[in-house]
Amino acid sequence: MLHSNLSRHVRNLASATAIALAIAACGGNDSLEPLKTLDGSVPLVVAHRGASGYLPEETLEAYTLAIDMGADVIEPDLISTKDGVLIARHDPNLDTSTNVSTKPEFASRKKTTTVDGETQTGWFASDFTLAEIKTLGGIITSDATRPKQFDGLYKVVTFQEIVDLAIAKSKEKGRTIAVYPETKNPTYHRELGLPLEDKLIDIIVKTGWNTKTSPIYVQSFEPGSLKLMRSKGLNVRLIQLIDADDYDLKTGKLTYAAPFDRPYDWFKSGDKRLFSDMVTPAGLAEIKTYADGIGPWKPYIVPVKWELTAAGAAVDKNGDGKTDLTDAVSQAPTTLVADAHKAGLLVHPYTFRNEKRRLTFDMAGDPANEYLQFFRIGVDGMFSDFPDTAFAARAKYLKETGR
Ligand code: G3P
Ligand code: CA
Repeated sequence: MLHSNLSRHVRNLASATAIALAIAACGGNDSLEPLKTLDGSVPLVVAHRGASGYLPEETLEAYTLAIDMGADVIEPDLISTKDGVLIARHDPNLDTSTNVSTKPEFASRKKTTTVDGETQTGWFASDFTLAEIKTLGGIITSDATRPKQFDGLYKVVTFQEIVDLAIAKSKEKGRTIAVYPETKNPTYHRELGLPLEDKLIDIIVKTGWNTKTSPIYVQSFEPGSLKLMRSKGLNVRLIQLIDADDYDLKTGKLTYAAPFDRPYDWFKSGDKRLFSDMVTPAGLAEIKTYADGIGPWKPYIVPVKWELTAAGAAVDKNGDGKTDLTDAVSQAPTTLVADAHKAGLLVHPYTFRNEKRRLTFDMAGDPANEYLQFFRIGVDGMFSDFPDTAFAARAKYLKETGR
């Protein structure tokens, strides 16, 4: 069933190249209002960990499906193996995204350690060679409702393999597929003696991609990692990620609890500022000194909030007997996109997902509404677990702008 759905998606999107060409052609039409993106170009569909809503994330299969679904960009998170190879996994703890716990030969490597100050038990990539990690299979993460029948079937991949895929697929599709690597837990890796940055720079330089217009964006939550790479001569577009711990749906304000209150390198250096300090005009100006854009969590752009009764209780808008995000309502957008653009920064918010439990009441159960909301504000792209939905919503948005 899933396979037939996926092949239908792919058939429906077989014209992605033609649409891309049509968009490019429309770009030259002077009668059209320019898009509200930083440079007026079409906002990017960034496949977050590949088509991770459908297949085990950060595998070649998930990236290939994302590209077939129309994604412009594929996103890997980078961590290091014991032998210093950059691989695509969201967490150094392999238990969260692979079947390592089912492998008796690795049972003795289970341990408890800390990652960015958080105590974790599991199997850690820094204790495994690439050859050993290649014996594991990726598993679906995030939502219990996502398909599990592909768990264990697809291998963990190296960053080099992802670059090679993007280059091959760009040729095959006749359109440029960019990559968007994130240095994951860079301070943690440096302390392990397995720093990420030099290896990432090496691959970028060897690929011939060390320019501002190359099909690559490099992202990190830690400013120090981005600044280090810039100081070492990395010229590609750098994106500062901006997190928070959670939202308070009563007030609509974001909350800041460790370890998601500030970048881990700020914590280590005693810098008391929070992620919220990055979205002020001064914070954006500082980011502009070392980066080309920001990747904020969505509610920095569209806050979400419950309606409250006179007694201050949350209104159960959808009448399902409980109150959660699906009862909340989008608030007026902040000025973040405009402020960032004024500072000359791209804005790529994260993460867009299809599951109904992740959509506010005013989205009426349709994820396309959320994409449209953000496109209309003028974001330069977004990270999505469901690139087919993002692609379709973008086509709708471009149509409403006359393209
Ligand atoms: O990289 C953009 C966004 O995905 C950041 O969140 O936790 O998925 O890396 P995370
Ligand atoms: Ca990421």
